Amino acid sequence: MPLPKHVFSPPFNIVRSSHVVLDVTDIERSLAFYEGTLGLIVEDRVGDTAFLRAVEERQHHSLVLRKSAAPACERIGFKVGSEEDIDKAATFFKARGLRHAFVDVPYQGRTLQVTDPFGMQIELYFTMEKRERLLQLYGRYQGVHAQRLDHFNVFSPELQDAVDFYALLGFRMTEYTEEDGATGRIVAAWMHRKGNVHDLAFTNGRGPRLHHFAYWVPSPLNIIHLCDVMASTGYLENMERGPGRHGISNAFFLYVRDPDGHRTEFYSSDYQTMDPDHDAIRWSVRDPRRQTLWGQPAPRTWFEEGSAFAGTPVRDALFKADVIIAA
Ligand SMILES: [Fe+2]
Repeated sequence: MPLPKHVFSPPFNIVRSSHVVLDVTDIERSLAFYEGTLGLIVEDRVGDTAFLRAVEERQHHSLVLRKSAAPACERIGFKVGSEEDIDKAATFFKARGLRHAFVDVPYQGRTLQVTDPFGMQIELYFTMEKRERLLQLYGRYQGVHAQRLDHFNVFSPELQDAVDFYALLGFRMTEYTEEDGATGRIVAAWMHRKGNVHDLAFTNGRGPRLHHFAYWVPSPLNIIHLCDVMASTGYLENMERGPGRHGISNAFFLYVRDPDGHRTEFYSSDYQTMDPDHDAIRWSVRDPRRQTLWGQPAPRTWFEEGSAFAGTPVRDALFKADVIIAA
């Protein structure tokens, strides 16, 4: 299937993935996981909403946990390059008849919430309150030493259309998985704005749903240490996949599930992609090294379970791909 061309002058400038807002059913239980075990820093707590960040982030929050009756993903957030880009984005979504609204969000400046053509809930902002630089306050490092939110991965039922739409917004494809043969369809795609492998990845499947959000960590050793901690503190079942080395992205990884089932990845050691002529790398959907370079397939839950966007119906994928699933 056709690969999108790189677009270097998009209608507005998204600079990177920024934050995610999750509905959780028990704030204390979630904080025991994200703060107490994973080591994220609680920057503020207002009633039943907690705002967390990682040590490299000077922005107020990259993870917002809101108490709710049922788990869901409220929205994923991207930072844009200027205030003007927010207005350009509003114009873009209005022209296409897509839902868009300026909203007041705590600790953020002007914020535009939009619904993409596939039902995904997104917010765009330029300014967020800044907080103390923690990167070299090593005494504050806990858990997996998460440094910064790196990317989102979403289940997309109309994968080619999603790839084409986000390419129009300037997301450049770095790697993709494809069925073999002359009529092979794209099964998954990794697309970036900030210059590493991705800000946003698409996985063919029932959606729209958030598959996972990922934090970048300094080294694979941080991930291995987290495995030891989780295995010995009652979170054995929360380790879903890994640790391992991805073929795609070359990153060392671990996927964990929070108490409500939301999936987080810890991710280390991918590579730079900012060259304008960086060509997308193709992987066959039947190549076992694409998921894990060492050959271990992902479990069925990894292909089937995700976090729905609040209030957003989900659809079956247009097609079912012949992915390799662990027995
Ligand atoms: Fe990921």
